[in-house]
Amino acid sequence: MCGIVGAASLRNVTPILLEGLKRLEYRGYDSSGLALLSDGQLQREREIGRVAALESLLDKRALKGNLGIAHTRWATHGKPSKLNAHPHLSSASVAVVHNGIIENHEPLRRELKEMGYRFHSETDTEVIAHLFDHSYRQASGEASSARLLKAFRHTLMRLNGAYALGIIHIEHPDRLLCARMGSPLVIGEGSEEHFIASDPLALLQVTDSFIYLEEGDYGILTRDAVDLYEMEGPDPTESEPVTRPIVRYEHGDQVAEKGDYRHFMLKEIHEQPQALKATLEGKVSDEGHLLTSILGPEAETLLANTRQIQIVSCGTSYHAGLVARYWIESIAGLPCSVEVASEFRYREVVVPDDTLFVAISQSGETADTLAALRFAKNAGYLATLAICNVPGSSLVRESSLRLMTNAGPEIGVASTKAFTTQLLALLWLTAALASSRRSGPNTLSTSGLVEEMRAMPRLVEQVLELEPAIAQLATRFADKHHTLFLGRGPHYPVAMEGALKLKEISYIHAEAYAAGELKHGPLALVDDDMPVVTVAPSDDLLEKLKSNLQEVRARGGQLINFVCEQAGLESGEGITNLVLPKVSDILAPILFSVPLQLLSYHVALVKGTDVDKPRNLAKSVTVE
Ligand code: G6P
Repeated sequence: MCGIVGAASLRNVTPILLEGLKRLEYRGYDSSGLALLSDGQLQREREIGRVAALESLLDKRALKGNLGIAHTRWATHGKPSKLNAHPHLSSASVAVVHNGIIENHEPLRRELKEMGYRFHSETDTEVIAHLFDHSYRQASGEASSARLLKAFRHTLMRLNGAYALGIIHIEHPDRLLCARMGSPLVIGEGSEEHFIASDPLALLQVTDSFIYLEEGDYGILTRDAVDLYEMEGPDPTESEPVTRPIVRYEHGDQVAEKGDYRHFMLKEIHEQPQALKATLEGKVSDEGHLLTSILGPEAETLLANTRQIQIVSCGTSYHAGLVARYWIESIAGLPCSVEVASEFRYREVVVPDDTLFVAISQSGETADTLAALRFAKNAGYLATLAICNVPGSSLVRESSLRLMTNAGPEIGVASTKAFTTQLLALLWLTAALASSRRSGPNTLSTSGLVEEMRAMPRLVEQVLELEPAIAQLATRFADKHHTLFLGRGPHYPVAMEGALKLKEISYIHAEAYAAGELKHGPLALVDDDMPVVTVAPSDDLLEKLKSNLQEVRARGGQLINFVCEQAGLESGEGITNLVLPKVSDILAPILFSVPLQLLSYHVALVKGTDVDKPRNLAKSVTVE
């Protein structure tokens, strides 16, 4: 995680860096800082907490400079504190901002201490500052680009792990070093100015032209020039810089504003009808045909040749994959496996013939999901498909096929509209797989599925009207410490997502169980102090679920059931039913996710937590 931004310009770069940090706050928000070079001085300010705190500090102490780097942190090594905040300095000459993890920082720290370097933080990053300072001193000669690059390359060769880096040196008032290995970094090109950032979003206020660094790229930028080299290539003094294309960002500067909403999360929950509509746009023709060519070249042949699906993702995106497994197997008739990326990437994987690899990620930058994709590209899969919300993200650029969710920027750390749009995209993919095979166990026609998908935004609008009733219900959680979520079939992963939402933002311990598993352990926890939330649409499994609910009631458990109009479940003592509109079995997982989002949101309000930026979490997880 962490966000970095840097600039080399003729103007004062402080406002550009601060605005960039604000736009990167979704990557971490426990502290922030910046370092500037001006009048031969290296100046630094850091502050614990949000970027706004750094901004207030800078209001008092106006720092100005034409060259600078800045950082917003999500702590990995060392607690959130001012001392651990970036930039880190060495010998009052070098300043470093870093996103990633240096795995061999301990031996490097020992080595540097023996050389006489003093450490001021607990971070892995500080070794980079000292190592670079040492390498620069070793690379004697004049203060040239060649000396800087030589020292930089030497430093990078000593690092194991992941990094995106921005470095400035006091002897080089117009040069900014940057590198990418395992963590994203882009260069923004302005008029007589250049920038670096973890995400183009951070720089859209100053440019829409970007160079996406490839893995292993490093280089130097000034106001007028960018020289990039490859770690795999020869020494920079013996080679020409590599050329990387300049890509225009064509998606507009979508800075998300809260508007009249109290939180981004609430706004994003309410944006779902619109986001779902946008997700279907361009994917279905007016006549109701699936436009599979949007996936990429040869998509139709690839879908027709697919015999199996492997889905890999993390967090909420993993839950979307779990729901999709039920659809893909029952509608398209294809075997489907789903796994969290952090496990998949380190497993000895057997790849069955003609398996399509599908990576799901809102951000497209999640380190584990990206690593899994990179592994999959050489593991014998038929093709790799990214389902993603961020155009231009690493996942989208590196996959052979892509399916965009078009939900618009999601700012709240707890994912909402990204999840339901992922589900819709996955249902579309299921329909595309089913129609390309023209068979499958489910007789639902493609046009039937398209009709279902088109009905979704209107149904979600109706569910959003339940908000006052859900807010009322949320007050019951004020003094609760544990909650159980139950579901069956595709509503088991919906229950998992509901439990994840609740724990993320209200800090109430919440666990999800497949309702049939209740009697194999969790029933022991049930008493009248433990609310049990159930996802109970009127599907084939409802009668089975009802028996599980009896088991809960018999032990005094307080049931909160999300049901369909026709469920036939009576409210009564210890049983509260919230009734959703009638919906088909296929769409129910999307629809039933929405009241669970509203429930966690309102419980978080009752608990008084920081809804959009819950403790210890970040929106984009770019470290393992
Ligand atoms: C973080 C976020 C979650 C998200 C997960 C995967 O944990 O807080 O909301 O589901 O990362 O992120 P991705 O961008 O890959 O979907």
